Amino acid sequence: MKIYRANIIYTPSPKQLEIIEHGYIVVRSNGLIEGVYRELPENMDWRNQVIDFGDRLLIPAFNDLHVHAPQYRNMGLALDLELLPWLNTYTFPEEMKYRDADYARRMYRRFVHELWMQGTMRSAVFGTIHYEATRILADLFLQAGMGAYIGIVGMNRNSPEGLQNTTEEVIEGLKMLKGHLEEHGKSGLVQPIITPRFVPSCSDKMLRALGEFAQETGLPVQSHLSENRSEIDWVKQLEPEATCYGDAYNKYGLFGQTPTLMAHCCYTDGEEMELMRKNGVYVVHCPMSNSNLSSGMAPIRKFLNAGIHVALGTDVSAGHNMSMLRVMQYAIQVSKLNYAQTRGEMPFLTLSEVFYLATKAGGSFFGKVGSFEAGYEFDALLIDDSYLNYDNYSLEQRLERYIYLGDDRDIKRRYCRGEEINEPAC
Ligand code: GUN
Ligand code: FE
Repeated sequence: MKIYRANIIYTPSPKQLEIIEHGYIVVRSNGLIEGVYRELPENMDWRNQVIDFGDRLLIPAFNDLHVHAPQYRNMGLALDLELLPWLNTYTFPEEMKYRDADYARRMYRRFVHELWMQGTMRSAVFGTIHYEATRILADLFLQAGMGAYIGIVGMNRNSPEGLQNTTEEVIEGLKMLKGHLEEHGKSGLVQPIITPRFVPSCSDKMLRALGEFAQETGLPVQSHLSENRSEIDWVKQLEPEATCYGDAYNKYGLFGQTPTLMAHCCYTDGEEMELMRKNGVYVVHCPMSNSNLSSGMAPIRKFLNAGIHVALGTDVSAGHNMSMLRVMQYAIQVSKLNYAQTRGEMPFLTLSEVFYLATKAGGSFFGKVGSFEAGYEFDALLIDDSYLNYDNYSLEQRLERYIYLGDDRDIKRRYCRGEEINEPAC
């Protein structure tokens, strides 16, 4: 059992910032939270065990539900094109390099180190078509002790020679990765996820086989959906029978039949939106990426009003920064542009809403993660914002200033499932 004392902030619901000044959080030895207290109960023999973090902030760790590990080297580069030419010009050539396991190890070390640095303790990650590189990535997460879903990417059409796999290879790779993680992974912190890149990259045969594999294994699914207008037009040509882009996944069992993440959804509406709601598919909102590739503004307020699950993602390297702080900031700012553009029809996102999306909403994909309620896994960040807190700011204002002005240097400790996570090798 561990007891931490600090200024505790979390969001049990989107509009509810729970703030406990100099409160206590009790964590059991299995990493689960016993409870959060304003005062330690008198009858408990806990007083001598308290780890006192003074005036610092203790918040849930961040969850990045959409990020491309093999695009790490391109982060902050090459953002002068829209999606389809961007993929062909910058992204596919970089991903091809991951056939070289030494290159993969070198870059993936940096990637995992950066997630640690930014306080992202759980992520949903795209690898490449390559089994060995993806296994190396999974091993780096296991060594670090951070949670992740990791996908071998399926792509067998409209992709360059040298960056394609067959349906058999992607299924075989996923089976090997699953076996490897069952053998070496401790209690499922790192898990495989079925990852068709997007409809234009995957033949009907591949989509069907991946859907069947999802059904057999119960493994979750991640992909891209309705990101860019040219992409959507292309999917209409490629899949004339699908009633919408989402239906092209749905008809193969890749749209909520097992837990599913769909990144972007900038143009999702009508039937596609209803299908997402009905099937419990998550929208992963990546506003930094959508700005950089001129993709569009996802109608997040509409999704929230409809009761659709929404999480946040960096989408590096279409997103230029791995910090979930920056993603929260973009989410608010893009929602304000959308608010202006729709003449107030879509009220903008609030600070507590984006904080909820980056913590509890994203965390829900991993189980009871992202909040400090009893029974939740203790994933947390200790924040020293003293240089930002030079006057009488309230705790709510301190959180706001940390989100807008803070960065990784302010994170003093990181916890995942109750364990303190030390800096991984880089
Ligand atoms: N759609 C298909 N592949 C990708 C990718 O790598 N990044 C983004 N943003 N969209 C995609
Ligand atoms: Fe992406």
